[in-house]
Amino acid sequence: MPLNILFSAPPAMWPNYQPALDAALARAGIAANLACSHAADEVDYIIFAPDGGLQDFTPFTRLKAVLSLWAGVEAITTNPTLTVPLTRMVDNGLSAGMVEYVLGYVLRYHLDIDRYSRANGPHWQPRVPPLARQRRVTVLGLGALGVACAETLAGIGFNVCGWSRGPHRVEGITCRFGPDGFAKALAEAEILVTLLPLTPATENLLNAETLALLPRGARLINPGRGALIDDDALIAALQSGQIGHATLDTFRVEPLPEAHPFWQQPNVTITPHIAAETRPDTASDVIAENIRRAQANEPLLHLVDRRAGY
Ligand code: NDP
Ligand code: OXD
Repeated sequence: MPLNILFSAPPAMWPNYQPALDAALARAGIAANLACSHAADEVDYIIFAPDGGLQDFTPFTRLKAVLSLWAGVEAITTNPTLTVPLTRMVDNGLSAGMVEYVLGYVLRYHLDIDRYSRANGPHWQPRVPPLARQRRVTVLGLGALGVACAETLAGIGFNVCGWSRGPHRVEGITCRFGPDGFAKALAEAEILVTLLPLTPATENLLNAETLALLPRGARLINPGRGALIDDDALIAALQSGQIGHATLDTFRVEPLPEAHPFWQQPNVTITPHIAAETRPDTASDVIAENIRRAQANEPLLHLVDRRAGY
């Protein structure tokens, strides 16, 4: 019997995902009816995006697992109607996008690229930037994305510190962890990159008290989640010069409301949650492999620990 797989995501994603998923399922040897709608009590697996509208999993009585297309799963981890395993997305296309985004904005800060904008007319005031090895960058989060970014930055010479919940060893990176490592990781951050999941433990992690631990004038890049940072504290730090500039990709409310003070803050760059996106061509094989594993009673890849929230 073919498996019934429900694609629960915004309809605009279907034309790109359908052929990629069908091909990946075939490669994995899985006979499946993949569709955007199925009778709920006949669905075996759900491929899920949080903006697809599905919130009540109760009618899916034969569901075996939910496979998130997103890396961040805060919108679903606490859903009480979800009682089957949940996996999140780890995809090399997603990681490559994040690495390019982070590298681009780190280099913008490191090289002081905005200094040479000609918006204000002729400007011949040379200031040679330091080398990457003289620049300290901290990456909060040493998961799939944090490690990929930290390794790339270290690979071109940056002096990189990474911070995580538990201990890690990553070659070429100073790894710190837990509450004790946090203050040190911040104190070392001329440029701070936040790649943490949003959980009860990380919400408002960057607040007035912790932003004050950064070196004065530090630059911040937040492609993680908006609620990792207390908005009011960040605005105060940007206005006082404690934070020199911030590049924000994620926000508490998206799209960022027009009245939000971030739009008025001159030393903020806002990108509309485009840092990285799951890529159908690479992510489809991750989904298909997990369905194969579930069918074979093998451990799933990238299983979410719902108590930890990521
Ligand atoms: P992972 O789950 O692989 O990694 C999470 C990291 O955060 C781990 O190193 C983990 O520590 C650490 N962490 C979690 N909680 C804490 C805590 N309380 N204290 C210290 N460290 C903690 O996630 P990814 O790297 O795949 O993704 C990170 C986030 O990036 C996603 O959750 C999502 O919010 C965001 N994202 C944003 C995108 C965008 O376009 N803007 C695109 C994709 C993702 P440990 O290793 O010890 O468990
Ligand atoms: C994700 C995201 O979590 O796009 O995948 O933010």
